[in-house]
Amino acid sequence: PEAPLLAGKTVTITAGPTREALDPVRYISNHSSGKMGYALAEAALALGAHVHLISGPVTLTPPPGCEVHAVSSALDMHQAAMKLAPNSDVFIGCAAVADYRAADIAEQKIKKQGDEMTLTLVKNPDIIADVAALTAQRPYTVGFAAETQDVAQYAQGKLKNKGLDMICANDVSQAGIGFNANDNALTLFWDNAQQSLPLASKSELALTVVKAIAGKLN
Ligand code: C5P
Repeated sequence: PEAPLLAGKTVTITAGPTREALDPVRYISNHSSGKMGYALAEAALALGAHVHLISGPVTLTPPPGCEVHAVSSALDMHQAAMKLAPNSDVFIGCAAVADYRAADIAEQKIKKQGDEMTLTLVKNPDIIADVAALTAQRPYTVGFAAETQDVAQYAQGKLKNKGLDMICANDVSQAGIGFNANDNALTLFWDNAQQSLPLASKSELALTVVKAIAGKLN
């Protein structure tokens, strides 16, 4: 058993993809499996935390003991996050949130048109940036960054621009890690420091990440 480093703490985690409806039968989404977010929920539970898992549509079974908040769109996820974050000690944004949604969701199935069609998309809120911008009751806020190049530079940029306390970056150009894979390699960035966590299962990495976060509280 793990030392209860997070006993008495509430941890809220976003996981999986979001699904942006176009009409009653179609949506825009991505290939996020939710594995890393679910592994983080399991790790936080193992350290004794009370865990809220805000999950987009995935096929995984949530770890027993966490409170699951099932959401679909980025707007749903944003609403759940803004409700839970002020009562959380830690907020981890692991979801692959769609950057854009349809400007209008058609009430009826969109009919086949000519050889081209244009969809108008509008920007979704940046959930983790809004959590990090809370003034009262702000949780320790941790983001993820999937990059294909210049990982350290882009990750440190997101740490600063989104106002995060820590960011966990992975190089998704490497085969077998990141989206949908069972293994991952991460580099954690905070303040002006960094720590590389070599290739391991998502469960092992999640435990290391959650322990690193526990060490930063107080
Ligand atoms: O900017 P980018 O999407 O690469 O940032 C990734 C991080 O930001 C992840 O922690 C992700 O969960 C979070 N994010 C978010 N809301 C968005 C976009 C990203 O919370 N609309």
